[in-house]
Amino acid sequence: MIKVINVVGARPNFMKMAPIIAAMQERKPQITQLLLHTGQHYDEAMSGSFFRDLGMPEPDINLNTRSGSHAEQTARVMLAFEPALVEHKPDWVVVVGDVNSTIACALVASKLGVKVAHVEAGLRSFDRTMPEEINRILTDRISDLLLTPSRDADENLLREGATPRSIVRVGNVMIDTLYRQLERAKASEILNRLALEPRSFAVITLHRPANVDDPEALRNLFSALAEIARDLTVVFPAHPRTQGRMREFGVEPPDGVKVIDPLGYLDFLQLWSRARMVLTDSGGLQEETTALGIPCLTLRENTERPITIEQGTNHLVGLSPPRIVTVARRILRDEYASEGRVPELWDGHTAERIVEALLDFDLRSAERRDPISAIDGRRIAAGAGDEVARSAGADGRRSPAESGVSKP
Ligand code: UD1
Repeated sequence: MIKVINVVGARPNFMKMAPIIAAMQERKPQITQLLLHTGQHYDEAMSGSFFRDLGMPEPDINLNTRSGSHAEQTARVMLAFEPALVEHKPDWVVVVGDVNSTIACALVASKLGVKVAHVEAGLRSFDRTMPEEINRILTDRISDLLLTPSRDADENLLREGATPRSIVRVGNVMIDTLYRQLERAKASEILNRLALEPRSFAVITLHRPANVDDPEALRNLFSALAEIARDLTVVFPAHPRTQGRMREFGVEPPDGVKVIDPLGYLDFLQLWSRARMVLTDSGGLQEETTALGIPCLTLRENTERPITIEQGTNHLVGLSPPRIVTVARRILRDEYASEGRVPELWDGHTAERIVEALLDFDLRSAERRDPISAIDGRRIAAGAGDEVARSAGADGRRSPAESGVSKP
């Protein structure tokens, strides 16, 4: 039997953790789990509504740490997480993604000798000005089990010296949630509420500091949106940080751009999956649009998700308005023939493979660390050869079609 603390903190964590919780519930009593929310995101719109939409249980532990500078936020999560770990003494801490809560909890756990599994390991933008890139590199470096979404992630980890035994390619867990919630999202009234016809509008999201914290960058992007909005309505569910910056800089949205508050998971899924195209600086949305074959323009100079460009429907357009507008118009003229394809193992069964990988790791451990003695300060080193290299096998791999999911 293993005891796990599953960590969530910010909006993009919730859709990754929901299927893992469900898959672990299926494996009781082999696995017992506690859900811990760091409180990095705390608004109803950024957190509460996701728990309801995704059918997640209330967190067993809430650290209520809230916003702050990067150092404040990371430090507050670390300070609050340590006593929770000492009290609950799990065998594993599972962290997802690349937010400040991810690195904070991974760092505390690894120093207490508690094994860390990182879901979405190995993604790299190679841009260290992004806080998320620092979080990714450091979390991977100290995690015991590196659960990757795609081959490029494995290659990044190997290049950085990760041991092959620690890497298990499991696929993209966010896509499990996407396929699971597609039917439910169809009941959303969001298109009626905004008076939109399917495929007659574009959706944009923006929240990266590089895009929204600099008034020039934000004005620049809005000038591209003004052009695109001549051809079709643009809907902009704006992150609280972006709304705050728009007020602060006195930047008004152009005509034809509808700014609305952030949406819950189901309303947002219904909105973007019916859009003609999506423009974004989010990481997750690049992957989700690829899974459903919706054209996506990524408003960044780099991406940690190159597979969405190589295989999917993503276009890395950067921040130059002429380039953004040119690609948007080409999409409107259907000039990109291929819809793209769904990458291998993005099949709706990643959470099951994650749970298998955790159980398998423990089964194969020649020497196991004892978290209780580790927390007492008598740390027992992990066995060097404690996991056998493998990637998720062909078993259980199913295409979206076979698993009963289809593109809308
Ligand atoms: C964080 C993640 C980013 C992720 C994004 C998704 C890090 C380094 N960044 O960025 O990777 O893509 O979440 O949203 O962890 N705020 C609210 N209500 C909330 C939460 C935040 O109003 O519930 C406001 C606060 O003013 C806060 C600001 O948004 O200062 C930024 O929040 P923060 O968690 O620091 O970073 P995000 O930009 O959300």
